Amino acid sequence: MSPQPVGTGKVLVTGGGSGMGLAVAEALLRAGGRVAVTGRRVDRLEAVVHAWPGQAVALPCDLSSPSERQGLLARAREALGGLDGLVHSAGVVEHQPPGHISEEALRTQLEINLVAPLRLGEEALSVLEDGGGMVFIASTLAVRPLTTSAVYSAAKAGLLAAMRSLAMAGASRRIRANAVCPGVVDTEMVRAPRLSPGEAPPEGADLEKRISAQLAYLGALHPLGRLGKVEEVAEAVVHLLGAPWTTGTELVIDGGLLLRE
Ligand SMILES: NC(=O)c1ccc[n+]([C@@H]2O[C@H](COP(=O)([O-])OP(=O)(O)OC[C@H]3O[C@@H](n4cnc5c(N)ncnc54)[C@H](OP(=O)(O)O)[C@@H]3O)[C@@H](O)[C@H]2O)c1
Repeated sequence: MSPQPVGTGKVLVTGGGSGMGLAVAEALLRAGGRVAVTGRRVDRLEAVVHAWPGQAVALPCDLSSPSERQGLLARAREALGGLDGLVHSAGVVEHQPPGHISEEALRTQLEINLVAPLRLGEEALSVLEDGGGMVFIASTLAVRPLTTSAVYSAAKAGLLAAMRSLAMAGASRRIRANAVCPGVVDTEMVRAPRLSPGEAPPEGADLEKRISAQLAYLGALHPLGRLGKVEEVAEAVVHLLGAPWTTGTELVIDGGLLLRE
């Protein structure tokens, strides 16, 4: 087996219990890497550890808590015996149009989608091995907001700016920072019904119908005619994590979504 590119050997993956984070963790584990998965739902993290004994470790953490996330990379380095990479996949979205943006939704989305990854990225600069890599999952909504995505879009756009700053700061030790901007990918996040202000959440069969209609609508927005798959994003993340001469950039993986007028 050829040696793994630096950046992909020992990696901390936030949001590693579900969706794109889980797909990234599994891709790294399949390639023989060692991975620390983090998130709040311990059962999801333990399932990864159980499936990959000796290769995966669980580090439960609520990233909205500054005291819990502080030192997370150092804990991952200790658990894995070194740390080559950070993948930040944890994220939250709450669709609310201007005039209906709750203070709580504003604070939470900024904290998880911008403040936490910036803090983790800062810690990565001192904890990652020379030549290591970080990859942040941003979104096409960073560059093309919806009426309902002001906070999420602002946070993800800020994350792209922070990523470039981290890329410059890490360059002297060949530590690279990059991002991916997915279009709509079929995960739990997209299966939450998008409600109008004051609308009661549907239940039972109505909920099922609503979600299928939502997925069909979102899929059809993409010129390539469907939603993205988590594995398609994971492949790009793993590539960026180990790409030795790529830093400060974002890779759009969106089925052509941004090509639309
Ligand atoms: N799905 C899409 O269409 C899409 C498109 C573009 C970008 N993205 C971005 O892709 C990333 C992954 O999302 P996904 O689609 O894979 O959805 P997902 O399965 O819902 O993943 C989100 C992850 O974030 C973690 N998380 C949320 N709040 C957290 C907190 N306070 N502390 C620690 N972890 C927290 C969740 O774990 P716990 O609940 O266990 O804490 C979960 O594993 C996100 O950054 C999202 O913004 C998604």
